[in-house]
Amino acid sequence: MDVVLEAHELRKYFGSVRAVDGVSFTLNHGEVLGIVGPNGAGKTTLLNLISGVIKPDSGRVYTNIGGKRIDITGWSPPRLARLGIARAFQVPNVFTGLSVIDNIRAAIIGRKRQYYTLKSYDGGLEGVDEEAWSILGFIGLTDKYALQAHELSHGERKLLDIALALALKPKILLLDEPTAGLSAAEKDLIVNLVKRMKKEAGKSIIIVEHDLDVVFQVSDEVMVMYEGRILAKGHPDIIKTDPKVRALYLGEEK
Ligand SMILES: Nc1ncnc2c1ncn2[C@@H]1O[C@H](COP(=O)(O)OP(=O)(O)O)[C@@H](O)[C@H]1O
Ligand SMILES: [Mg+2]
Repeated sequence: MDVVLEAHELRKYFGSVRAVDGVSFTLNHGEVLGIVGPNGAGKTTLLNLISGVIKPDSGRVYTNIGGKRIDITGWSPPRLARLGIARAFQVPNVFTGLSVIDNIRAAIIGRKRQYYTLKSYDGGLEGVDEEAWSILGFIGLTDKYALQAHELSHGERKLLDIALALALKPKILLLDEPTAGLSAAEKDLIVNLVKRMKKEAGKSIIIVEHDLDVVFQVSDEVMVMYEGRILAKGHPDIIKTDPKVRALYLGEEK
């Protein structure tokens, strides 16, 4: 299995808090890696380190996107996006005053403008509409195209946030708690979307999730974090029965 992303001994402390304390892992091409763990385990900090939102105290991040191993430690989010690594946020990052379709259009135009400044512009703004509608259909919000983002339900805003990440045409997609605060039915929509982004769109995905059921449904591999470290990593069936993991979640609501 080809590795697309590799973290090596990542470390980030906030004062005496060891948020991420020597984490190494690999993400395989076309697979979904689920990261679980209790609040404060370091999951969001780990995604922040990988997506360039913060820099690690030590450790490296590598990617093999494009066939060659590159060190991307500390790269900014826009630079990572150009390379093919995009991030959706725990708190949706949409423009609340724009319509749903215009949010997606804006994200696509933003991507094209970035290429433009790099002198590798891919053909003007033609195709923006077609692409926007195609992404809208893929996430299942076609009926809601004219609504302003603030008129969407929380679950729909989460879907739109993922759409904005998809508009960057990423090869690797990082999702931070995409089902947080959602109803069971809305969670199913996200589960289905993650599966289709992997199968139909060929994305490699890291999904940070509090909900174990969601993670077990979508992940090829699950990594359990606790106090900044990896407690266990493996196939969902193995992780489900791991005594350390069961002890960690005993008494917690799922
Ligand atoms: N910017 C920050 N400043 C200080 N402490 C932080 C900061 N970000 C996270 N932390 C601390 O690092 C630890 C891990 O946080 P986080 O990565 O958000 O965990 P999770 O996403 O697993 O809930 C927590 O103790 C949190 O309070
Ligand atoms: Mg978090």
